[in-house]
Amino acid sequence: MGKIHLLDDASINKIAAGEVIERPASVVKELVENSIDAGTDTIRIEVMMGQKGSIRITDNGCGMSKDDAALSYVKHATSKIKNIEDIETVRTMGFRGEALSSICAIANVEIITKTKEELAGTKVIIKGGKLISIDQIGVPDGTSVVVDDLFYNTPVRKKYLKSDGIELAQIIDVVTRMALGHNGISFSLFNNGKELMRSPAAELLDTIIHIYGQDIARAMLPVNLVAGTIRITGYISKPELLRSNLLFQSFFINDRSINSRAIGFALRDGYGTLIPKGRFPISVLKIYVDTKEVDVNVHPTKNQVRLSHERDICDMVTRSVRDALTGKNLIPEIKIPSKQSQQTQQFQLTQQSQKSFLYDDPASCPPMVKETATDFRPSTKDTQRRLRRSERFGEEMEKPTGIEIPQVRVIGQVDSVYILAETGDGLMIIDQHAAHERVFFELVRASKRDDSQELIIPINIELDQREKALMKETIPYLEEFGFRISEFGQDTFAITAVPVVLGKLEDPLMVHDIISDILSQGKIKDETGIFERVTKSIACRSALKAGAVCSTSQMESLVKQLLRTENPYTCPHGRPTMISFNRQELDKLFKRN
Ligand SMILES: Nc1ncnc2c1ncn2[C@@H]1O[C@H](COP(=O)(O)OP(=O)(O)O)[C@@H](O)[C@H]1O
Ligand SMILES: [Mg+2]
Repeated sequence: MGKIHLLDDASINKIAAGEVIERPASVVKELVENSIDAGTDTIRIEVMMGQKGSIRITDNGCGMSKDDAALSYVKHATSKIKNIEDIETVRTMGFRGEALSSICAIANVEIITKTKEELAGTKVIIKGGKLISIDQIGVPDGTSVVVDDLFYNTPVRKKYLKSDGIELAQIIDVVTRMALGHNGISFSLFNNGKELMRSPAAELLDTIIHIYGQDIARAMLPVNLVAGTIRITGYISKPELLRSNLLFQSFFINDRSINSRAIGFALRDGYGTLIPKGRFPISVLKIYVDTKEVDVNVHPTKNQVRLSHERDICDMVTRSVRDALTGKNLIPEIKIPSKQSQQTQQFQLTQQSQKSFLYDDPASCPPMVKETATDFRPSTKDTQRRLRRSERFGEEMEKPTGIEIPQVRVIGQVDSVYILAETGDGLMIIDQHAAHERVFFELVRASKRDDSQELIIPINIELDQREKALMKETIPYLEEFGFRISEFGQDTFAITAVPVVLGKLEDPLMVHDIISDILSQGKIKDETGIFERVTKSIACRSALKAGAVCSTSQMESLVKQLLRTENPYTCPHGRPTMISFNRQELDKLFKRN
């Protein structure tokens, strides 16, 4: 007998279901998409996180007739396309006829639905892909789908589910993107009966206010660009409002939320030198192209698409962002006819860099010409503060025994990033940020965990729903480091105390960055992992920045601090803090024998 045999239907369905439904958030995404396709203007999402968890999505869309409802959960049953050619013009979110069948294969599902035309509605119950019952029922127009006991018959998948907090954060992320992408529809999300999020059917900016809050909405700039058949609209943040992760970037192509690194890079390019490395603008960008130019059938979850003219679209994204940031008509270079003298151009450029045309607050005006990009350089005061903080703590630390502290003479700084020093018989190059990070890392590690200092004015940080869910899990660990954090209103957390190592906190943004770093790394795997994460994050954000101009005495202080650490050779992330060449190596490099 041969080795090959055909899988039975049940196995085939479970395998296929795994592609579409990876986690509870996938169920939410698919069901919400069905509601959108049904033409609803209100979608209510209720979840109960927990062992047997349940998800209910209710809409007031077109509903299904009894016959349709009975067919809806069968594999490849769809009302959205008739044949493969239709995919070229499809505008609906779904078309593969896989979502309901996939969900029904691995859960208990109840579909309650009614069309406007029919007098009575229908209730269908399916378990593990099998029809349990189908009955007439009196219900309002629209559809409600309840999914219970997800993954009950796929234990491996169930085992890999993350904590409730993380799964909920994923659901919130899905709903956030759906609500931003379909701002014409009202969304509400509840967990265990508690409302987590609500956005009205409104203009996009109103939706942004409801989802991200006033502070963020106020710092958003509109984007609008039409060229040929491509149209781009939406909002991007001013360069002063940045985040340290990508959670706040949403891209839509023909209203479908997609992941695209290419578009992410194009967005960044639009900001040019206005944003520093490692920081990301907030954005909600909606791109509309001819449906023939997009292949939406690339991935079962449809969160990736193939674009025929990706390069052109990316260029347009960059241009639309640049336009939004510069207010197009205000750029002197564009208005000046090319034959005008160089002198006029220069005059206008100087004017431009002195006066902000765009920003109400001159201090927040980003540099428009490259020469002034040094505005992002940390101030000398900031550098001094950071160094003094670690110095003070360093004194309390015991000198490591066993390591001989080499004699080092600081020579100077290269590009405000590297410090050059002469060692007994050679040259040492030190990465100033990495070095200071190492110093702080060891200080934080050695400091008493609960050493905490009360803040005179608490720092409020506004989190989005996803961060909020993660925050709740993380608070106990942060508190062990000396943070004191409490929920304060809807989406805000108030930080009332911080670890003593953070010193006199003059830059609340730093705390925001630390928290944001920690949350962006998602799931807390184990205790050691989270403590390490917090330590690194505090160290990284407290450390002297690359790009900070240092005086000789500051450099000397840093080198001295570094050489007192237990492991001066690498930063907490494993990068080298210093490279040195002894006399022989230098001789070899210069071919001197
Ligand atoms: N909320 C809903 N309202 C109305 N019809 C629905 C709803 N959900 C599903 N349907 C119907 O069930 C069909 C199958 O849904 P699904 O499995 O998600 O496939 P697809 O969305 O790809 O067509 C849809 O084509 C639609 O006709
Ligand atoms: Mg669907």
